[in-house]
Amino acid sequence: MKAALITDTSQPPRYTDFADPEPAAGEESVTMLAAGLHQITRAQASGQHYASPDRLPMIPGVDGVARRDDGSLVYCGGLRPPYGTFAERAAIASVAVPLPTDADPTVVAATVNPGMSSWIVYKLRGELQAGQTVAILGATGASGRAAVQAARLLGAGRVIAIGRNADALAEIDADETVRITADGDWAHPLGKVGGDVDLVVDYLWGEPAAQSMEALVTNRSDPARQLSWVQVGSMAGHTLPLNAGFLRAANLHLLGSGLRGVPWSDIAAQLPELIDHIVGGRISVRPVARPLRDIATTWTEAVAPGERIVVVP
Ligand SMILES: NC(=O)c1ccc[n+]([C@@H]2O[C@H](COP(=O)([O-])OP(=O)(O)OC[C@H]3O[C@@H](n4cnc5c(N)ncnc54)[C@H](OP(=O)(O)O)[C@@H]3O)[C@@H](O)[C@H]2O)c1
Repeated sequence: MKAALITDTSQPPRYTDFADPEPAAGEESVTMLAAGLHQITRAQASGQHYASPDRLPMIPGVDGVARRDDGSLVYCGGLRPPYGTFAERAAIASVAVPLPTDADPTVVAATVNPGMSSWIVYKLRGELQAGQTVAILGATGASGRAAVQAARLLGAGRVIAIGRNADALAEIDADETVRITADGDWAHPLGKVGGDVDLVVDYLWGEPAAQSMEALVTNRSDPARQLSWVQVGSMAGHTLPLNAGFLRAANLHLLGSGLRGVPWSDIAAQLPELIDHIVGGRISVRPVARPLRDIATTWTEAVAPGERIVVVP
């Protein structure tokens, strides 16, 4: 089969021939139709991610949409290394959610990963309650936008979107938007509108998270009211200076949500409901389709905020 292959973590994958996967017991051989080029896909292939494979070569791609031999569509992921979803064929096992025949494979492939990032926070880690106030740090990316849509669907009372891209922020259907600026003056307005935030979904970490945390913790209308801060992505840095007083001045609960800390079985159990919203268009990320044969140039291509490249074999 044709596949994208990483043989050097410092280089983009190349389009090449690779042995078809031999299905092991319990696996099923399928034809890949579409796979998203997510942040985790690039990070894993760079060897820098906590879930990077420990040996090369590898085929990148954490998830995607495939056609079964009976013609039906399935969302799949979690392939056995060295295989990934950026290939013509895959052997799938545990992560296999049937899709309606009219589902658009590129939309599903674009949206599940970014959509799942906040869905798991709302359902499992931060346990969003109806009427609560959610702040999304890094709201202009694909995951942040999906987080706004999912928050609304799951009954959030108020949504505050925080991001640095003014045009992208203006497109977001939030109750409040706060623009991150280089001068740091944005933390004051965030404190003004965010005194009653219940749950922060943090895609940035680093300096913007440090400044947001100070603004939100020091402006609580009721310091004893729980503030859950869920670390999901680290677009602005992998570390932050954490003031010890923040953990005493407010009822701050700091936790994370990711592939290793949340059991696969729990994530898988959420997939059908999330995918139903995606197929129904209620949570959506715009796909930008690119052929697999162009993977070497597509790998570093930038797309507009909120879009996701989808590789099509
Ligand atoms: N844990 C999970 O389950 C999970 C699942 C999916 C994604 N993630 C993580 O979540 C993060 C976001 O993913 P995504 O899908 O939204 O990616 P994306 O669509 O590429 O968007 C990235 C966003 O980050 C913003 N950004 C980058 N650097 C920034 C900085 N220094 N300060 C402020 N904003 C900055 C970008 O803003 P501009 O438009 O201004 O550049 C953009 O809005 C990634 O770290 C990803 O790995 C985690």
